[in-house]
Amino acid sequence: MNKILKITNQKILVTGGAGFIGGALISWLLKNTQATIINLDKLGYASDLSRINQDIELLNVSSNRYKFVLADLIDNEKIIDLVNDFQPDIVFHLAAESHVDRSIASPRNFLDSNVIGTFNLLDALKNYWLNLAIERKNSFRFLHISTDEVYGSLGSKGYFDERTPYNPTSPYSASKAASDHFVKAFYYTYGIPILITNCSNNYGPWQYPEKLIPVIISNALSNQPIPIYGDGSNIRDWIYVDDHVEGLIFVFEYGLIGNSYCIGSSEEHNNLEIANKVCRGLDVIRPNLQPYENLIKSVNDRLGHDQRYAINSKKIKEKLGWKPRYKFNDALQNTVKWYVNNQDWCNRVSMKKKLI
Ligand SMILES: NC(=O)c1ccc[n+]([C@@H]2O[C@H](COP(=O)([O-])OP(=O)(O)OC[C@H]3O[C@@H](n4cnc5c(N)ncnc54)[C@H](O)[C@@H]3O)[C@@H](O)[C@H]2O)c1
Repeated sequence: MNKILKITNQKILVTGGAGFIGGALISWLLKNTQATIINLDKLGYASDLSRINQDIELLNVSSNRYKFVLADLIDNEKIIDLVNDFQPDIVFHLAAESHVDRSIASPRNFLDSNVIGTFNLLDALKNYWLNLAIERKNSFRFLHISTDEVYGSLGSKGYFDERTPYNPTSPYSASKAASDHFVKAFYYTYGIPILITNCSNNYGPWQYPEKLIPVIISNALSNQPIPIYGDGSNIRDWIYVDDHVEGLIFVFEYGLIGNSYCIGSSEEHNNLEIANKVCRGLDVIRPNLQPYENLIKSVNDRLGHDQRYAINSKKIKEKLGWKPRYKFNDALQNTVKWYVNNQDWCNRVSMKKKLI
């Protein structure tokens, strides 16, 4: 990032900061700014604060720079009080139920957290923002972190970009699409300065071990079958989590109010390729009697499984100057190493709640 940062010592509210991407964002903010951060999270099954606590200790962050607040976005009154007490200058909204399989098993949780929760936050911020003095009102930003899944599924050709019509197909993507629409509605109706990002599949350390890459590693290391949906041909555009975080910072710094930005790395790989690559990486780091690939096993396909997601990131690259910095094979291999060295963490957080 070569221009002067607008994030200096503002007050930043991060929702969902006990999750995978929110934790990486808070880590970036602690290292690169003097901002005061409030991390609002309900501490659901996928939450863990070890990473942030580790950073706070390493960086010797003073207690008045970072605070964790236990709150559920469903609790309307509490959210109003928190917003009014903290008086944020910037909000990064990441809190959401995020696992498609869980949305198929329990869709209502996704309606509650992702739609009603986002609405409650927007409504509290609207009343707070409307009463701000003009200078703070103008510099206030609400960043809504969304997904490429709102666009539905692609065939073998084509890419999603900011003009692609929404066409969500799972309860997860429908709830994220609905939250995006509410965010846009609050911009058009009340003028709240919002920005939206729609990013592709993230990977990296500290991801709750129910998502594809940590599942492959945990199962391989414990000599269990590695489950791959159907024929493994479903394609995702994989992005390293720190590239996503830098994308969010670029959008905050240089994005045009009211705009959406698609973020992706143009690293399209199908699930079987990912499983094979991870297994080959494990063969090098932790050799076994037989290649880990032998453990890969096809299981019944996910209901309504989207075939392909792929992002055209031209807008964020050309208009804002962002580009991904991490090379896929290197970042994937470092991720594999991290999980191999942190299986204790994976086991500890997985104990909290198994898939319903
Ligand atoms: N993981 C991805 O590949 C990806 C890609 C694009 C966009 N996103 C979006 O990024 C955001 C973060 O994703 P993640 O992978 O870090 O998810 P995650 O599941 O790891 O973390 C989400 C966090 O939000 C919290 N949360 C959920 N509902 C809440 C509520 N009602 N009140 C307060 N806290 C609540 C959870 O407790 C959890 O700590 C989500 O909005 C997701 O839709 C994720």
